[in-house]
Amino acid sequence: MGQKGREIIEINVKEVIDDLNSAYADEWLAHFQYFLFAQVIEGIDADTLKKELEQQSLDEMNHAKKIGDRIIQLGGIPTTKLTEASTCGFSPPPEDRSDLRRIVELVIEGERCAIEKYNRLAKKYHMKDLVTHEIFEDLLTDEVSDEDDWEDFLPGLQQKQKEK
Ligand SMILES: [Fe+2]
Ligand SMILES: [Fe+2]
Repeated sequence: MGQKGREIIEINVKEVIDDLNSAYADEWLAHFQYFLFAQVIEGIDADTLKKELEQQSLDEMNHAKKIGDRIIQLGGIPTTKLTEASTCGFSPPPEDRSDLRRIVELVIEGERCAIEKYNRLAKKYHMKDLVTHEIFEDLLTDEVSDEDDWEDFLPGLQQKQKEK
């Protein structure tokens, strides 16, 4: 990164890179979780959900790319220690792969963890590193929208379970 771009950061650059790497790891694990869930779910109603999970998987990968770009710009290297660096982690799929409601509950848990984390990081970098702040703020906006979209799925899934 250029001299001035570095000068305006009012926080230790190593700390910024560590925070970005933690978010980077979260996004890859979120990408993987959505990818895996889309692949393993089954049942009559799985097709619509499968498409949504696949799309979401791509969105999370693009988040990882955005964060990775900033890490590189700051002179860092995106981490390969994903499980160590992540704080939101990863949920394996439920044993019953046709339990679509549980699938959606698990992805909502992940989105909520991301919301809390980006909310904290967006606040932390406000007035300290505006470029990183804006990245976290954009991600926060996306995750808030993700949670909302997935919550919309739940009532329909509950309904179907009751009909059985
Ligand atoms: Fe994300
Ligand atoms: Fe998300």
